[in-house]
Amino acid sequence: MEIYLDTANVDEIREAVDWGVISGVTTNPTLIAKESGRDFHEIIKEICGLVQGPVSAEAVSLDVEGILREARELAALNPHIVIKIPVTENGLAAVKVLSSEGIRTNVTLVFSPLQALLAARAGATYVSPFIGRIDDTGQDGSDVLADIMDIFRNYQLETKVIAASIRHPRHVLEAARLGADIATVPFKVLKTMFRHPLTDHGIERFLADWEKVIKG
Ligand code: E4P
Repeated sequence: MEIYLDTANVDEIREAVDWGVISGVTTNPTLIAKESGRDFHEIIKEICGLVQGPVSAEAVSLDVEGILREARELAALNPHIVIKIPVTENGLAAVKVLSSEGIRTNVTLVFSPLQALLAARAGATYVSPFIGRIDDTGQDGSDVLADIMDIFRNYQLETKVIAASIRHPRHVLEAARLGADIATVPFKVLKTMFRHPLTDHGIERFLADWEKVIKG
């Protein structure tokens, strides 16, 4: 499973890229809004310069023509750009056109297996089920992800599944166990994935013992 960083913060992206573990970035309007005062296209271009992989940027129009206009403008900024589009009738109509133009898409705000199936049929490159937000409703986000993976395997659909709205490392583990192609994780969750108390304890002990070797 590949790991993408779910952020629009270039400092976080720069740091995580140096760790060698992320292969893409996803953003959304809320994440862009956190980078207050900066121009959307400028942020996206900077991110594309930092990460050698897909960078999802979201179109906010709700009509087909508006989505297509935004998508073409964004796609022209950098070859890494993938257009994020919510799963609506107009959204999928735009996905169909963009797919025929060779512009990659990430169908977002997916909360059900049937929405994911529709996105795949329309030609989406990626589909993003929101695991954490499904959990918030009392339903199990991992169950929805499992159904999507089953359906996509049944019909060998080429659309890649990005487990999104990840809230904690357990979500990442579940996504990997279920065979998601990608998990897009917030910076805080990524850092937590490195941590284990026995690793910290082990380093402390090795360093203490090494002191004894040096001192003889
Ligand atoms: C990424 O594609 C999604 O926009 C993001 O993971 C949503 O996460 P949230 O539910 O924590 O806002």
